[in-house]
Amino acid sequence: MTNYVRVFDTTLRDGEQSPGASLTSAEKLEIARQLARLGVDVIEAGFPAASPDDLEAVRTIAREVGHSTNRDTRVPIIAGLARANANDIDACWEAVRHARLPRIHTFLATSDIHLEHKLKMTRDAVVTRVREMVAYARALCPDVEFSPEDAGRSDRDFLRIVLAAAIEAGATTLNIPDTVGYTTPAEYGGLIAELIATTPGAEHVTWSVHCHDDLGMATANSLAGIQAGARQVEVAVNGIGERAGNTSLEEVVMALHTRPAVFGLATGIDTTQIARTSRMVSNYTGIPVQPNKAIVGANAFAHEAGIHQDGMLKNQLTYEIMRPDTVGMGSTQLVLGKHSGRHALKSRLVELGYTLGDADLDRAFTEFKRLADKKKVIADADLEALISEEMAQAHELFVLDGMQVACGTMGMPTATVRLRMPDGQTQVSAAIGTGPVDATYKAIDSIIQVPGTLLEFNVHAITEGIDALGQVTVRIAGTDTLQTMDAQREERRVRTFGGYGADTDIIVAAAKAYLSALNKLVHARPAR
Ligand code: KIV
Ligand code: ZN
Repeated sequence: MTNYVRVFDTTLRDGEQSPGASLTSAEKLEIARQLARLGVDVIEAGFPAASPDDLEAVRTIAREVGHSTNRDTRVPIIAGLARANANDIDACWEAVRHARLPRIHTFLATSDIHLEHKLKMTRDAVVTRVREMVAYARALCPDVEFSPEDAGRSDRDFLRIVLAAAIEAGATTLNIPDTVGYTTPAEYGGLIAELIATTPGAEHVTWSVHCHDDLGMATANSLAGIQAGARQVEVAVNGIGERAGNTSLEEVVMALHTRPAVFGLATGIDTTQIARTSRMVSNYTGIPVQPNKAIVGANAFAHEAGIHQDGMLKNQLTYEIMRPDTVGMGSTQLVLGKHSGRHALKSRLVELGYTLGDADLDRAFTEFKRLADKKKVIADADLEALISEEMAQAHELFVLDGMQVACGTMGMPTATVRLRMPDGQTQVSAAIGTGPVDATYKAIDSIIQVPGTLLEFNVHAITEGIDALGQVTVRIAGTDTLQTMDAQREERRVRTFGGYGADTDIIVAAAKAYLSALNKLVHARPAR
């Protein structure tokens, strides 16, 4: 058995199923590029049957990220998800076939609870469908993954029969989802070991683990599955995903990396890209990373208690099992300042992996100069925040052109906001509110007039110091006519939209974040 574990990243599919993680196609493409730089083996780029836009986003990633004309360059496999029916599989193939290494990932539930209440199918009908649909997918694509959804709660004998049928029909990877995060590490590891040992044809396929974090055991379960013989692990950056999320990429990768004596297994991940990938996913999805999150949280490497600091000064090993620079955290050093020119900015952005056209670079440079006037040193994290915002604004219909806010303990908080409208004209409006953010959002609402509800508002500082950029993420819901297709639940649900803004003035950052979410909402509305 090989000691290489494939990293299958599902940030853009299962991760995007998190409430509010709705990403634009440009953001998905940029994240996919970063995932390739990170070194993941498989990028699950989306669920193409959900809508023509989803199909197009996966196709673009297959063309741009999953294709290299240089045969020596390592390119990731580009996978798409499909329910076990011909329409979904056709849509998936149409999207992924443009990659050098395409994969169709098809699934069907196997637990009695899903069969009875969701699929309304008998066990025999499930086996027949799996056999037919895996064979159908295999006739299109040489690389087919099959997942028995809710395997963690499925009858083991039945699971074995379904998996054997999938192998016979041509599946190349068998993925075992603990869809609802129900199992414990011993149980899940035992399940993987038993399936590998007893499923006819098991030696011809790669076994894969896919865990959810409902009981906080996703990472432990995935590692137990790997120790039991799985050689693919399905993960999402920052552990995002529906409910409590998916197994987090950074936790599994760093566990394998930090404890070689325990696992003796390798991945192809460039660990120094982890922090950057985490920041990009957080910025674009509008989902903040909790400060105490393992590996990528703001406090993961902070040693504040006096006794710890003393120990750290004597020897870093006293309280540190990993170096921050191993995950790319130490690289927040001064990079540019007030006197840096356009060329220096461009070179640093290229080093960071951003590919900006001339117009985008011009806009980024103007913003950079504006920031450098207020903030003495500009770190990589500041540049990433600036670019995240530029990315969002490049596609925005409504852009913040200016604002003025009065607030404090006397009088009513008042905001005056000027927006650049889609026709290039500007509009100004003023409003009072319970606080400066409320007043600002009311002034914006009175100009845009799109019904939406603010569900979440978060603010935090990107770097240290009094002149740090404040970063705001928001999540808003559209009206119930705006829905998204959930692959697993087979139902449509109300779409929510995340927004992101950064500025040295947090009220300005709040205005930008709200506008970026509203812009996504307006883009997603059907033409009237
Ligand atoms: O959790 C799950 O069951 C899934 C499958 C579609 C692989 O995400
Ligand atoms: Zn899942």
